[in-house]
Parts: sequence; C-alpha cells; structure tokens
Amino acid sequence: MQIENLFVSGHPLIQHKLAILRNKNTEPKKFRELIREISILLAYEATADLGLAPISVETPMGIAACRQLTETIGLVPVLRAGLGMVEGIWEMMPGAEVWHIGLFRDERTLRPVQYYNKLPVAPTVQVCLILDPMLATGGTAVATVDILKKWGAQRVKYVGIIGAPEGICRLHEAHPDVPIHLAAVDEHLNDIGYIVPGLGDAGDRQFGTG
Ligand code: URA
Repeated sequence: MQIENLFVSGHPLIQHKLAILRNKNTEPKKFRELIREISILLAYEATADLGLAPISVETPMGIAACRQLTETIGLVPVLRAGLGMVEGIWEMMPGAEVWHIGLFRDERTLRPVQYYNKLPVAPTVQVCLILDPMLATGGTAVATVDILKKWGAQRVKYVGIIGAPEGICRLHEAHPDVPIHLAAVDEHLNDIGYIVPGLGDAGDRQFGTG
C-alpha cells in the first residue's frame, strides 16, 4: 500500500514477534509481553525525527558534545487496547506525559463518542504519540487526532500494530499530516469491523476477557 506518511516496519524483530502475537494459541501473558516489545520497537522508529539541541556534558575524562531532546512528548493510549502499549514506551522516554483517551462507538449513529478525556485546557506537550494497536475503521483514530489538534498539539503521530486499508485511508484522508506507524497492513475489515486476518480483539487478548 503506497500512502505518503504511512510507515510499515519491515524490521525482522518486529515481524518475528508479530507472527507470535497473531497466533490464536498465544496466551494473554505472552500476548501482553509482545505488545509491549513491538510497541517499543515501533516507537523507536516513530521518534527518529524528534528535535535535538546541543548540550555539553562533563564526563570523568572531559567535556563531551552531546544532544538532548527539545520537544515534550505525550503518550496518548486509546482505552482500552492501547493501554498495553504504554509502559514499555514510557520506560524509553520517562519524561513523557501520559494522557488517556476513552472513546466508544455509538451503535445507532456508528460515530465515536468520547467518554474519558482529562486533557487540561492548554496543551502541555509538543509531540503526541497516539497508541492503539488496531487501526480498523479509522473512526476512533480520526476522532482522537481531532481531539488532540483541537487541544493544540503541534505534532501528532499514530503508532499502531496492524492496520486495515480502510482505516489507513480514512485516517490519512482526514489528517494527511499525521504519520502512521504500523507493523503490518492486512487484507480487509469484516462486516463487524474486525481486521482480517488480524489477531482478533486486541483488548480481550491482552486482558483475558475474550
Ligand atoms: N479492534 C480489535 O481489537 N481488533 C480488530 O480486528 C479491530 C478492532
């Protein structure tokens, strides 16, 4: 799939872990471990263009010319499946803020409805990484970017694990400036909005509720 701003990782470690993640026999404990590891690797790729500023550091042997991050980062897990993506990434960037967003789909209108959002009035971060493993219809992704842009976030990136072409196109059409980082693009959505072949329900498989 050729879309500007779509980055599908071909990294061997990610692909190997994704194969185990997809397996229907993978137990929740292992599933959570893999979500965490794949998320770290994807976030590593997604943050390759963060801003840096020079800084001098005194080592035991002298002065080293170093660089440090200039942008404040917000991790934005979408409840509930995005939760498992947070901890590992947060360990890599402990200064990041974590802002949870809860959305559900209204069965009548089929539109996403916000039920949890504690964002303060003014933006406190410059770069937001939306964390949600399955980019299915794209409705939740578009709504989350809408919320973050309205809040005033200067840069928003989407980090997921598997995307369906339908959801990728929808997110890209609504927000072409938002880079989409995934481990795989699958075939299609089924008639109840699940990604095929996908991995099933990412929330249920993490929390053992399937
Ligand atoms: N959410 C999931 O957890 N799985 C899908 O396949 C689609 C949406």
